Amino acid sequence: MKGVILAGGLGTRLYPLTRATNKHLLPVGTEPMIYHAIRQLTGAGMGEILVVTSTAHMGDVVRCLGSGKEFGCSLSYKVQEEALGIAHALALTEDFVRGDPVCVILGDNIFEYSIRPYADAFLRQGRGAHVLLKEVGDPERYGVAALDEHQVIEIEEKPSSPKSPYAVVGLYFFDDQVFDIIRGIEPSARGEYEITAVNNAYIGRGQLGYSICKGRWTDAGTFESLFEASRILLENGNRILEHP
Ligand code: DAU
Repeated sequence: MKGVILAGGLGTRLYPLTRATNKHLLPVGTEPMIYHAIRQLTGAGMGEILVVTSTAHMGDVVRCLGSGKEFGCSLSYKVQEEALGIAHALALTEDFVRGDPVCVILGDNIFEYSIRPYADAFLRQGRGAHVLLKEVGDPERYGVAALDEHQVIEIEEKPSSPKSPYAVVGLYFFDDQVFDIIRGIEPSARGEYEITAVNNAYIGRGQLGYSICKGRWTDAGTFESLFEASRILLENGNRILEHP
């Protein structure tokens, strides 16, 4: 399985911290934020990883990460010239993914536990897509999953009246249908190609599986969540925990 880290976007909610640098290079625990995504992907067995970031920050990101040798993986890079959404960034990785299954991690998501069991669950699922859900107190900030007894029946992006407390976190597994699906979606009201539209297309095909995320999780896109991300890592000695 190939790994993709999405580290573009504007980071406007963290301004002025992001005036001169990329959000994913800000410190979380003792390291730049993006190290966590790399450590999660390599820890789940992925050796080939593509990092997508903006034109403005590509130089700094490459200077920070290099070839991947230090992390025991091979890193490639792709520029997203405009922040047109997560699905738009993912579309840029098609040549790299080349028909393999792909694990996509948002570069600002921090997980207390290893993502390996979720990768295994997706590989057991065999076809389609797999998302990770986490019960949260403020679901309106996220993509929110509506569930029946067996499956996810709908995902809404930042709904004002969430149908459940289950946020769809920023870790997605897709099979080779994903790029055709992205070609078929339209931009949302906020002008972005949404990953939620991609996941809803998989629901329409009856092919979206899910796991429940164990342990603490946060994105690090706001001042409070950036602080929480550091706390999670520092309290665990900057280590990603293995599942018992
Ligand atoms: O953190 C989980 C949430 O992430 C999900 O619950 C939502 O469904 C999903 O849409 C996303 O919501 P956000 O509003 O938090 O996404 P944000 O715009 O902050 O972007 C998240 C990451 O994706 C960010 O670290 C950089 C990357 N990104 C984003 C955009 C818009 C790109 O690489 N390119 C982009 O164009």
